[in-house]
Amino acid sequence: RMRRSQVECRPDIDTFTPGLLALYESLKPSEEHKSKQQQLVDSLAKSVNKEWPNAQLHLYGSSANSFGTSHSDVDVCLEMEIGTASTVEVLVRLADVLRADNFDNVEAITSARVPIVKMSDPGSGFSCDICINNLFAVANTKLLKDYAQIDQRLLQLAFLVKHWAKLRGVNETYRGTLSSYAYVLMCINFLQLREPKILPCLQAMEQTYTMTVDDAECAYFDEVHQLQDFGAENKESIAELLWAFFHYWAFHHDYRHAVISVRIGSIISKQEKNWTTRVGNDRHLMCIEDPFEIGHDLGRVVDRQTIRILKEEFERAAAVLQYNDDPYVALFEPY
Ligand code: GTP
Ligand code: MG
Repeated sequence: RMRRSQVECRPDIDTFTPGLLALYESLKPSEEHKSKQQQLVDSLAKSVNKEWPNAQLHLYGSSANSFGTSHSDVDVCLEMEIGTASTVEVLVRLADVLRADNFDNVEAITSARVPIVKMSDPGSGFSCDICINNLFAVANTKLLKDYAQIDQRLLQLAFLVKHWAKLRGVNETYRGTLSSYAYVLMCINFLQLREPKILPCLQAMEQTYTMTVDDAECAYFDEVHQLQDFGAENKESIAELLWAFFHYWAFHHDYRHAVISVRIGSIISKQEKNWTTRVGNDRHLMCIEDPFEIGHDLGRVVDRQTIRILKEEFERAAAVLQYNDDPYVALFEPY
């Protein structure tokens, strides 16, 4: 008997590509959604600039990195001089300002790694996270957006994976599974490693864009219009890639030793990152290096129990695509 890890993709996998692409199209945010989002940003800017006239608003996360669906929240970063005040003090003040301007469910969450104010917009019902001077998030938002423009299979794959993760309950960092951002990095790294490659490693190329954040250089090749044909030699369909993605994470990834790195465009070892033992709450059981904050492991939230759940879900998804003749329902079945 063949081991499951040696299974090859079923020969008729491509018959699922049209259905998966139709689903992808249905997940993309509508023009109406985008304009409501813009209205929220405009009314937020008005509130903020009354109190802090020099503050600049940046959209980050999926509302700006092109990986957002109609269900995504709106992530906003305020860039401003805060003088001697602490970030937390400013966020508490910001929460007061937003409450006074009738935003709903305003709450300052000051204990998180990145402190934020959460709120929702009474008009659109969108929820919104606001952080202050977190320019790494602004830089990685641009990086993801630039990758998305190189080969359309990245957006397609990442939308399907995010959708799957949300429905299967494995997109909840507070419960020990992975963030949307982590899943997108997994997709980029996966496409960097296809043979032939579907994505390049932008950080390993000539630096045409640099942004310095807290002494760290965020630099990479951003003239992505020159890379339109990069993945053209690789003819893999989205159904094949989705199956191969789940199959990789179910059976091939070396959870014990490997770290996936979009920055290097490859896989590196836990050893060289010093991620071999638990440090505080960071367990490093499933390692995903942040492309700019390279000491930051997006998989740090995963524990012994949730790594088992994640692997089971990857295996389940690979099996559904492999053996089910009508995989759409089962693959995205709410858990
Ligand atoms: P959805 O909102 O689920 O559509 O995706 P998103 O890409 O907006 O992800 P999320 O709201 O979880 O995160 C927002 C952004 O925060 C990411 O896109 C990154 O730019 C940034 N970020 C940086 N570090 C982290 C991290 O450790 N966890 C998360 N979740 N986000 C991070
Ligand atoms: Mg978001």
